[in-house]
Amino acid sequence: MSKMKFYFAPMEGVTGYTLRNVHHTCYPGVDAYFTPFIAPNQHHAVNPKEHRDVVQTNNEGVPIVPQVLTNKPELFLWSARELKETYGYNEVNLNLGCPSKTVVSKHKGSGFLEDTEKLNRFFAEVFSEVEAASSQSAPGTPENRYPRISVKTRLGLDSVDEFANILQVYNQYPLSELIIHARVQKEFYKGEPHLDAFGDAMKEAKHSLCYNGDIWTLEDYIRVRGLFPEVRKFMIGRPLMANPELVQELQAYEASAAAGKEWKDYENSMEQLKVFHDRLLQGYLVQMNGDGNNVLFKMKELWGFMSRQFPGEERLIKKMVKSKNMEEYEKYSEKLFDNFGRG
Ligand SMILES: Cc1cc2nc3c(=O)[nH]c(=O)nc-3n(C[C@H](O)[C@H](O)[C@H](O)COP(=O)(O)O)c2cc1C
Repeated sequence: MSKMKFYFAPMEGVTGYTLRNVHHTCYPGVDAYFTPFIAPNQHHAVNPKEHRDVVQTNNEGVPIVPQVLTNKPELFLWSARELKETYGYNEVNLNLGCPSKTVVSKHKGSGFLEDTEKLNRFFAEVFSEVEAASSQSAPGTPENRYPRISVKTRLGLDSVDEFANILQVYNQYPLSELIIHARVQKEFYKGEPHLDAFGDAMKEAKHSLCYNGDIWTLEDYIRVRGLFPEVRKFMIGRPLMANPELVQELQAYEASAAAGKEWKDYENSMEQLKVFHDRLLQGYLVQMNGDGNNVLFKMKELWGFMSRQFPGEERLIKKMVKSKNMEEYEKYSEKLFDNFGRG
């Protein structure tokens, strides 16, 4: 069996280059970090903010897959070429999952899943161009101007029944992998992922599949992995923000299983979480040129995910999140880690 792979999910506004760098340094082992989406338009393939997020100098040594959001084949091809030729990426991921109203109303992200004929025409045009350019060499190789193309999708807009038709479209094209967030658009991030529908998709899919959705704990992982033993790739988003050590725990579990050892409970390191927190704060100060207010905003956002690791500290977290300046914030965050006795 191939080694299990773990991906850090793209999260717009959350998993920018500073977060990815600090995570990769503090918790190495994630196989790829997918970037929040790049949205090309007729003026640019990659705008200045997106450029800073994907440029190699801001991502040294971090395995990255850039993601693109569009429903126009020519814009997708333009971005893909730029990301390969200018930025040096060998894989680009197409976002067919974003549920936000503004994106869906423009028939992008999961909104593009509504019209499978249009989706089919999109891929036909993209891959006819990629194949024309690839007669000598495969996408993603140095001689080819195009990277490999993967897709991240939801199961539909309103109902998982939509997915059979959507999958028929994907199955016609040489995608390098298919990542499925097992929800439909109207669910946003709520409710349980549709494991049955993911299982049905698995039977029909011609591509290498990656599972995504609500792997919050080792127990969640063991359950989903047990249901789908053929799936060797997992993408994790919010749970990795809540517990940045989660992939290391899952990898420890895999290593122990491979060695035939009995699994002993895994203890997360509060010291390392503090190191992660402090480095992230420093990283944001550099990224935001010392603008304390913006850094404070980013750190508060982090606690939106991470607070569940500090049960019983809700009051202190509330005070911390209300901090008006960096001094106040640092006072409360130090206290929080101290209270856990390992800061
Ligand atoms: C704040 C936020 C931003 C997101 N941004 C993106 C994005 O840019 N591209 C994308 O494909 N998915 C995006 N997602 C979806 C996640 O990548 C992932 O599919 C989803 O959170 C389910 O996985 P999880 O349960 O492991 O978090 C976003 C999710 C959240 C909560």
